[in-house]
Amino acid sequence: MSEWSKSDWRNKPRIQMPDYTDTAALQAVTAQLSKYPPLVFAGEARKLKAHLGAASRGEAFLLQGGDCAEAFDQFSADAIRDTFKVMLQMAMVLTFGAKVPVVKVGRMAGQFAKPRSAPTEVIDGVELPSYRGDIINGLDFTPESRIPDPAKMLQAYTQAAGTLNLLRAFSTGGFADMHRVHAWTLGFTDGEDAAKYAEIANRIQDTIDFMGAAGINSKTTHEFSTVEFYTSHESLLLEYEEALTRLDSTSGKWLAGSGHMIWIGDRTRQPDGAHVEFARGVQNPIGLKCGPTTTAEDLKVLMEKLNPENEAGRLTLIARFGAGSVGDHLPRLIKAVQEEGANVLWTCDAMHGNTIKSSTGYKTRPFESVLREVREFFAVHQAEGTIPGGVHFEMTGQDVTECTGGVRAVSEEDLSARYHTACDPRLNASQSLELAFLVAEELSARRNSQNGQQQAV
Ligand code: PEP
Ligand code: CO
Repeated sequence: MSEWSKSDWRNKPRIQMPDYTDTAALQAVTAQLSKYPPLVFAGEARKLKAHLGAASRGEAFLLQGGDCAEAFDQFSADAIRDTFKVMLQMAMVLTFGAKVPVVKVGRMAGQFAKPRSAPTEVIDGVELPSYRGDIINGLDFTPESRIPDPAKMLQAYTQAAGTLNLLRAFSTGGFADMHRVHAWTLGFTDGEDAAKYAEIANRIQDTIDFMGAAGINSKTTHEFSTVEFYTSHESLLLEYEEALTRLDSTSGKWLAGSGHMIWIGDRTRQPDGAHVEFARGVQNPIGLKCGPTTTAEDLKVLMEKLNPENEAGRLTLIARFGAGSVGDHLPRLIKAVQEEGANVLWTCDAMHGNTIKSSTGYKTRPFESVLREVREFFAVHQAEGTIPGGVHFEMTGQDVTECTGGVRAVSEEDLSARYHTACDPRLNASQSLELAFLVAEELSARRNSQNGQQQAV
């Protein structure tokens, strides 16, 4: 890796990134960011990599979730707290189903830049450049707002630092105590037609009570009162990523200091493109989105480029095919992985293949499709004898109405009530937790079938 430098991506085809017109302003911003402290420390990225390695062997399970796009005008302690809280609730339910630790990774503290399917958008006959996330330009549909402004990188850094600071405080300051987290989960199952969730929740409560009686509680056991929570985002705006990249003196390797885990999107995974070139040189865990157009040949090249030493936990393949299509694509990509003998963690992004336009004009995702994709992902892994190691959701702790369905059914007519996303529709708190209960059932069924097989042998 000695020949890699953090600016080499500049010699590769550059897509999905803005062409900044004010180069002096751009240089001033990146020079400033280069002097700022990194947001994460290399030891944390290595620890996360070890956890993801465990997930790739079925010894842990990854829960990755958060906003499609973080937004400057939605930056608030309450929003951070609520997403963190619902992720902890989900993790508790998933831990119970999987009986392995759940690795918690937020799409938070850096998820600002968005790839777009078209460079411009037209509203009422007016054509303007597309919105590309708050780190690049503004959502307002005006020519001024859509001009890429490098200064937005500084605001994104500040927001990411503030978000991460609060997440760190919540993780260790008593907020994440298992008793509290579970009390919230029980609240969800109250007064609803959700008997099976109540049953799982009661079994978790019994387990906590049993451990408490045996003297294992938050006073005696650190793990009861603290959590490890990691951050991740799409590594899309490479000027920002490069400026925050640092040499780690312990390992002598480069670290993307913008977040613990970074991923490469489905639109920017060209093996000879700028985004792959950047990601291959940093030691962070890397995610790679795999969509219907991912070929086995490309995947093989990408695995070799991104994980030449075949290190466990380095590469997470994030499958996002859409409900009804997982069986058409996942088996051929699993085969490519097996042919290479590659170590990867397979996880399921059940959001990005399931976006539709509602009859009321909103971009939405039916809860049923999200669930169906997760189930198909588990079924294919069961059939192939491989490991479904995690799930990836766009979600929020807020009570938004962006995805339809779920026990507190959101209808197409309801979407306009609280549709706040700056980009794609997110699961709300109730839908997220419901999904966790349903995924926990899959995990528990898988465990039972494995135990059954072991007994049969
Ligand atoms: C995303 O995760 O926000 C995203 C744009 O996903 P994909 O690259 O899979 O379309
Ligand atoms: Co999205």
